[in-house]
Amino acid sequence: MRIELTINGERREADDVWEGESLLYALRERLGLPGSKNACEQGECGSCTVYLDDTPVCSCLVAAGQAHGRDVTTVEGLGSGEQLHPVQQAFLERGAVQCGFCTPGLIVSTHDLLERNPSPSDPEIREALAGNLCRCTGYEKIMEAVRSAAEVQR
Ligand code: FES
Ligand code: FES
Repeated sequence: MRIELTINGERREADDVWEGESLLYALRERLGLPGSKNACEQGECGSCTVYLDDTPVCSCLVAAGQAHGRDVTTVEGLGSGEQLHPVQQAFLERGAVQCGFCTPGLIVSTHDLLERNPSPSDPEIREALAGNLCRCTGYEKIMEAVRSAAEVQR
């Protein structure tokens, strides 16, 4: 089937999408957007997190067909042009990126948290990022990055 959707503000389409195909697969393999990562494909790790309309979802659990006619924002769409979004910049500056597999999902989830709550407490940050697993950083650098991004955005 063909799907038509808006991705990062741009009208896009993909052909030959099969019914069981995930949005994550379509983004990475058909639409040239490899930012969202496939680490578990089971909804467990959050590395594939994107916005579907205004809601963060695990794109590995969403059928590509369900995104037809809707708005998707991926980690590639958060900054503007070459300019990184403050959340992306904070992750870079605070050393919150090691292998980077978890990073796109963490950045989308942090972006969503700070949209809803510009001054999150540490427990609120932990709760908001509970669905995003990182195997490398021990989370402290990630916490620092989120606090720093919140400060910059305020
Ligand atoms: S790849 Fe989707 S949650 Fe892990
Ligand atoms: S930086 Fe490697 S999984 Fe998080």
